Amino acid sequence: MEGLTVLIVGSGGREHALSIGLEKSHSVESIHAAPGNAGTAMIGTNHPIEASDIEGLVNLAREISADLVVIGPEGPLVGGISDRLREMSIPCFGPHSEGAMLEGSKTHAKRLMKKLHIPTGDMARLDANSDVVGFLEQNPPPWVVKRDVLAAGKGVVVTSEMAEAERFIEDSIEKDGFVIVEEFLEGEEASLLVIMDESGYVCLPPSQDHKRAWNGDKGPNTGGMGAYAPAPLVTPSVHSRVLEEIVEPMHHYLRNQSQPYRGVLYVGLMVDSDGSPSVVEFNVRFGDPETQVTIPLIESDLGELLLAAAEGNLSSLDPVFSGLSSATVVLASEGYPVSSNAGREIFGSDVIIDEGLSRGYVNFAGARIQDGVLISSGGRVLAATGIAPELAQAVDVAYQIIESISLEGSHFRTDIGHRALPHKD
Ligand code: AMP
Ligand code: GLY
Repeated sequence: MEGLTVLIVGSGGREHALSIGLEKSHSVESIHAAPGNAGTAMIGTNHPIEASDIEGLVNLAREISADLVVIGPEGPLVGGISDRLREMSIPCFGPHSEGAMLEGSKTHAKRLMKKLHIPTGDMARLDANSDVVGFLEQNPPPWVVKRDVLAAGKGVVVTSEMAEAERFIEDSIEKDGFVIVEEFLEGEEASLLVIMDESGYVCLPPSQDHKRAWNGDKGPNTGGMGAYAPAPLVTPSVHSRVLEEIVEPMHHYLRNQSQPYRGVLYVGLMVDSDGSPSVVEFNVRFGDPETQVTIPLIESDLGELLLAAAEGNLSSLDPVFSGLSSATVVLASEGYPVSSNAGREIFGSDVIIDEGLSRGYVNFAGARIQDGVLISSGGRVLAATGIAPELAQAVDVAYQIIESISLEGSHFRTDIGHRALPHKD
């Protein structure tokens, strides 16, 4: 197989990471992104079509004769882009709209998990007729309150403060008509990205995101401030329990639907102190920033892997991983995650480290080139990624790069990897 034309939909650090992986693939000849960012523009051709413009994207895929379309964000998947591409016989990496409801509706995902006996917390649904204060008084804190809409990581509040929980519940009911309150799960989180189709599945190395804005996992939730892989929290015995109790039943269910699931299932895990895993959430796409740390650990041809899943032939491949470790540190713009300050020039981001097995580079996210100048255009602006034989080295490489970059008002966490590297605390 030679000469694939690939279209990547999206504009984050995840999409730049996918472009880098596809650029290394012998199977891939040309890479397009829509709308893309400064990073994807350095590798291929950006097209000014938003990820929400499904018909525009389908037309683009046809115009460039795409052999494969890889969908980054969840929005277009829930909106049915994969269904539209399949109607036109264009292979699409990303599930059809029904499969995408695993992320599109938390209620649906919970009901399915309960039906399949997959370990997860209980859930209650509150609406305008509910006694909110009575509910909070009967159920001990912390409370996990979730809007059941696609809210780009901003629809969840975890709090032990009654007033905050009550306010978020009332606001959400006013906006959406109802809200979900979940059982609080104790433990440590990990992310497992599982590429799957009806013929089989491939688990990428488990990773760990850092969702809170500030060091020590403090502050508001964000889209993710950094990640590393593999996460030692997922020991071989935890991994085999995750396969047996979560991945196998989900794969069995999804492969037997009228339309099989072809894409990646992101399993957001909570692992308790006994090593028992449970599901915090499913997403139907690659994680961001987890993609920046998992894709570089795949040694096999990424284009072939994603195309095989899009065509239902995954079991014909046996992908190989490098066994290295990786870490990525996100540089966020001033005010993120509450607001973001765009339009500022970014200096020093062209650093590349290449010392044999240790290497590092920048994944661009909310950054674009305007009149030849690299400027910030979003909350998470870029991420510095390090890859090395040991996690501590990968973290050092990532920090070496991030510290050489300047963007007025920007901030980054200085403790990425702290749970796996206790001396970093
Ligand atoms: P979600 O968007 O569902 O991933 O939630 C965002 C973050 O909130 C998760 O990554 C967790 O850190 C936290 N969270 C969500 N659900 C729970 C839960 N049931 N128990 C504890 N923490 C949770
Ligand atoms: N990093 C979390 C996510 O992609 O949902």
